[in-house]
Amino acid sequence: MKKIDRAITLINTNVRRLRCPHCGGAFTPVVGRSLLCVNAHAFDIAKTGYVNLFTGRQQDFYDAVLFDARQACIAGGLFDGLLRKIAEIIRDAGSADGFILDAGTGEGTLLARLMPMCGGTACCAGIDISRDGIHIASRDYPDILFCIADIAHLPFADGTADCILNILSPGHYGEFTRVLAPGGAVIKVAAADNHLQEFRQLIYSGSDAEYYSNAAVKDLFASRMNLMSVSHVEHTVLLAPDMLSHVVLMTPLLQQVPAEKKALLSAETRPVTLSFDILVGKRPV
Ligand SMILES: C[S@@+](CC[C@H](N)C(=O)[O-])C[C@H]1O[C@@H](n2cnc3c(N)ncnc32)[C@H](O)[C@@H]1O
Ligand SMILES: [Zn+2]
Repeated sequence: MKKIDRAITLINTNVRRLRCPHCGGAFTPVVGRSLLCVNAHAFDIAKTGYVNLFTGRQQDFYDAVLFDARQACIAGGLFDGLLRKIAEIIRDAGSADGFILDAGTGEGTLLARLMPMCGGTACCAGIDISRDGIHIASRDYPDILFCIADIAHLPFADGTADCILNILSPGHYGEFTRVLAPGGAVIKVAAADNHLQEFRQLIYSGSDAEYYSNAAVKDLFASRMNLMSVSHVEHTVLLAPDMLSHVVLMTPLLQQVPAEKKALLSAETRPVTLSFDILVGKRPV
């Protein structure tokens, strides 16, 4: 089956979960290559199979180079410890057979690698504001529904998601609360204070950027969601130059660092710490 036809089947299976980003109206099943809402707002389905449901001015924070590097790091297993913990949380929450939305999915690799770890029959969707990210995601992971969309205006109906993942991406707790099904949970992953500390020390030594604290992220989450649990996952791994070069390119932390300096960072084997806090919250009552 062609990619676009698989995508149309996926969209039609989930059509009642989607809602028009212009008017909030329901969508009707795909006609030709267009998704139409009950008020005739139309959205085309791209050849690779995603649908663009973002109505603002396109703004890409990151480019394909960053997403290709993220894909190489995730496919190389660097995030597997984190993913195994998230899979355990999803199973314990009883969401492994539900509808899982990854808000800020990037190029979709984390979601695609996570799903088999959950061991259920979950139906998954990933959204991101980046066209480059969603292009790669829909090209490489055809069993997942991908949309370009804004976390602050989710194109999903009220109460549709059993689980919302929000991994290393900005959150919008008003939207998460609206879209979560009763009893559903948000699983937010925030970079923890030691995340990539070796690079901070090398590049930002002596400046404020040498140290990071995610306290504000955690406080905001706890003030907006009914906090159920906080877990911490941390590994320090020794990385050879080929994997290091992907890590250097995949992190927003080093986006502004000149190319020559980036090359030096990955010139020789060095330890790198990956450190995450996983916050689980339910809809506030
Ligand atoms: C550091 S990346 C994380 C991507 C993925 N979750 C991962 O961990 O590999 C942050 C992502 O948030 C996305 N993003 C930023 N603001 C957004 C918004 N308002 N709506 C949707 N996505 C957004 C970016 O495009 C980017 O893909
Ligand atoms: Zn509409």
